[in-house]
Amino acid sequence: MKQPLQLSSLDPQRLNALLAKHRVSLADSAALAGAVRRLSDHYLQHPEAATPWRQDWAQIAYACYFLPLNYLRVLGVLEMAKEVGFFAGLRHYSDFGSGLGAVSLAMDAALPGQFLSGHAIEVSSTAIAMHRQLTTPMATPLTWSTQVPDGGFSASEQRLASFSFSLTELPRIPAWALQQEALMLIEPATNQDSRRLLTWRGELQGAGWHVWAPCTHAEACPLLTESKRDWCHDRVQWDMPEWFQALEENLPMRNDSLTYSYLLMRRTAPSESRAGLARLTGDLRREKGASRQMICRGPKREFLSWQHRRGEAPQWPRGERVILDPTIEVKSNELRPTTQQVQSAT
Ligand SMILES: C[S@@+](CC[C@H](N)C(=O)[O-])C[C@H]1O[C@@H](n2cnc3c(N)ncnc32)[C@H](O)[C@@H]1O
Repeated sequence: MKQPLQLSSLDPQRLNALLAKHRVSLADSAALAGAVRRLSDHYLQHPEAATPWRQDWAQIAYACYFLPLNYLRVLGVLEMAKEVGFFAGLRHYSDFGSGLGAVSLAMDAALPGQFLSGHAIEVSSTAIAMHRQLTTPMATPLTWSTQVPDGGFSASEQRLASFSFSLTELPRIPAWALQQEALMLIEPATNQDSRRLLTWRGELQGAGWHVWAPCTHAEACPLLTESKRDWCHDRVQWDMPEWFQALEENLPMRNDSLTYSYLLMRRTAPSESRAGLARLTGDLRREKGASRQMICRGPKREFLSWQHRRGEAPQWPRGERVILDPTIEVKSNELRPTTQQVQSAT
């Protein structure tokens, strides 16, 4: 079972140093919440519009709310990426739409020795200045530019192109990113954003790319082809610090757990054996006689069905990877295992 994620490497003192310019601190929950509501409304009303970095309220809201939450979501993706060996041979990364540095901060926390260099591309010089203030010293040296450098990037065969909540503002994956070895795409856990990611999954596979995560197989996605209601997303738990609890008490939104959709693709195929590997794509639901949880192991939309007469269902979160014994009883779209027949792959 995974441990809750921590915000610890996002130092409150540094966040306070950023907020001081606006004469607020993490202790001013009501003032912070006002700014968060405003930026949240902006995103809801203009989902494809740019982040209004010049506005004081946007700077405050991003620093105290959107950055910490996106940082945790990136950490969640990095944990899975590490589990599947996704970073093998990758030594450089480029992060498009870097904002205040959710990706670089999470990379430093989760993978301090992995990368030799990072490059952040961010159109807003205000965001770049704030990101710089948050990130010294860095485990991985980081450079910035307001657009993709002329001539592209060196070492493309060792380079990851990363997009964390920045593709929403683009019509397609940019050409420079498609020339790198690896792609990390993280998007909101909405039906629309997730389905757009899954469409790209198919297109990238058609162009010779391989999916490393979240999928444990390369076949068609059952959530895309067999359902309009479901969408593929993960959920992580985290330890909420007191200052964030106080902020949230002033907000209508709850963040006890965090969700996101993501895709990790490489030109190289995954090396690990995927025999029996599957991924839980739903939350566990207790029903009469059995507890059901949606599971993905191929093109069919299927459920693990834990019969109560055989014992209690394991409490695995959505996104957990499991190994299925080949002898599990299958009835239509239901797999009816005993607890010995399914093991966590973590
Ligand atoms: C929603 S924010 C995400 C920031 C950060 N990646 C995160 O996960 O918190 C999207 C960012 O993309 C930047 N952006 C939008 N269009 C861009 C472009 N054409 N070139 C570079 N950055 C861009 C915006 O300024 C904004 O900082």
